[in-house]
Amino acid sequence: MEEDTRSNQEWLDGVYDKLLVKMKAECARVGTKIPYSPGADGMYHDVEDIANWTNGFWPGMLWQMYEATGDEAYRSAAVGVEERLKVVLEDPEALGHDLGFMFLQSSVANYRKTGDPGARRRGLLAAAELASRYNLEGKFIRAWTGPRDSEQGKKMGGGDIRGWMIIDCMMNLPLLYWASEELDDPRFYKIAVSHARTAQQTIVRPDGSCNHIAAFDPDTGEYLNNPGGQGYRQGSSWSRGQSWAVYGFALSYRHTGDKSFLDTAKQCAHYCIANMAVTGWLPLVDYRQPAQPVKYDSTAAMITACGLLEIAGHVEENEARFYTEAAYRILRAGEARFADWDPGRDSILTGGTYFYHDPTGENTEVPIIYADYFLIEAVLRLKGKGLFEW
Ligand code: GLY
Repeated sequence: MEEDTRSNQEWLDGVYDKLLVKMKAECARVGTKIPYSPGADGMYHDVEDIANWTNGFWPGMLWQMYEATGDEAYRSAAVGVEERLKVVLEDPEALGHDLGFMFLQSSVANYRKTGDPGARRRGLLAAAELASRYNLEGKFIRAWTGPRDSEQGKKMGGGDIRGWMIIDCMMNLPLLYWASEELDDPRFYKIAVSHARTAQQTIVRPDGSCNHIAAFDPDTGEYLNNPGGQGYRQGSSWSRGQSWAVYGFALSYRHTGDKSFLDTAKQCAHYCIANMAVTGWLPLVDYRQPAQPVKYDSTAAMITACGLLEIAGHVEENEARFYTEAAYRILRAGEARFADWDPGRDSILTGGTYFYHDPTGENTEVPIIYADYFLIEAVLRLKGKGLFEW
């Protein structure tokens, strides 16, 4: 591949222009459908499961684009998606801990942008549901829903998922910080801080690598172990989990001012940067996967970049340059390798991998909606045109 000699600013301006064209076409085609990955025809289709954890990313993208352009079509589609999404709040058994992902990017974004009181109520309901998953003894928010002998537990190496927390939940905590501020009531905030502290102690390792899961006895709260999760194996380091840690701890710092959360975010960031610097700034699916086969995950790249930009916003200028430059390198490498800017096809980035062990290959290096969400968030943030959705 030819060397790209453009400055970061030139690259950013070019990507922004392409984004405007691509997203306008996508919004006109997709509207209030809720996409995840395009079908064989290259087009998005509606997801089958209205409670899918990724269903907030499309409205999140629409709110970002509405903020950047003021184009009514984005607002109207985002509101239409939220209208469809709200039924899940009536079915707690269909929900896991991903209420932050689903409702920060839909209802809370709507409320932040328009002040709509119905959107605020839905955001608060989602926060109450999330807070209700807190395990008092173990001091963590329960991740997945299901019985003690669930299939989910078996897939991840066995265990009682009633006592499981996962690193991904760091990104759901901002829903609780928002609710506390909105209601001027510390309850939600305290749960979020307590969960973040437990994650710091039981999920992050001293070298900045992370486990995906921490398992506790759901009755006594005793810490048990760290099952494997979506990465290569127990003790490895799943790159998307790493990226949730970088961005999630940085966000907990933003909302609490607790310096230890910023330090943890940096520790995880340095681990990611060190690993990506030797793979051309593309993240492997797991930083401890075998040398062959080489498989990447563009979602981890985009989330990590957003996390680095968040850290850059909380440190002094000299230090911020380091995190911003690393974010640019990751964004540029991911965009060069995985982007499709043809406005006639849906989805921008391919290269997303859902989990390491994928015998069918159907979930390996494919387009996944949140790679696009975090690419858009990063680009608009760097352009000074983004909406803060966390
Ligand atoms: N939160 C689920 C995942 O990152 O795959």
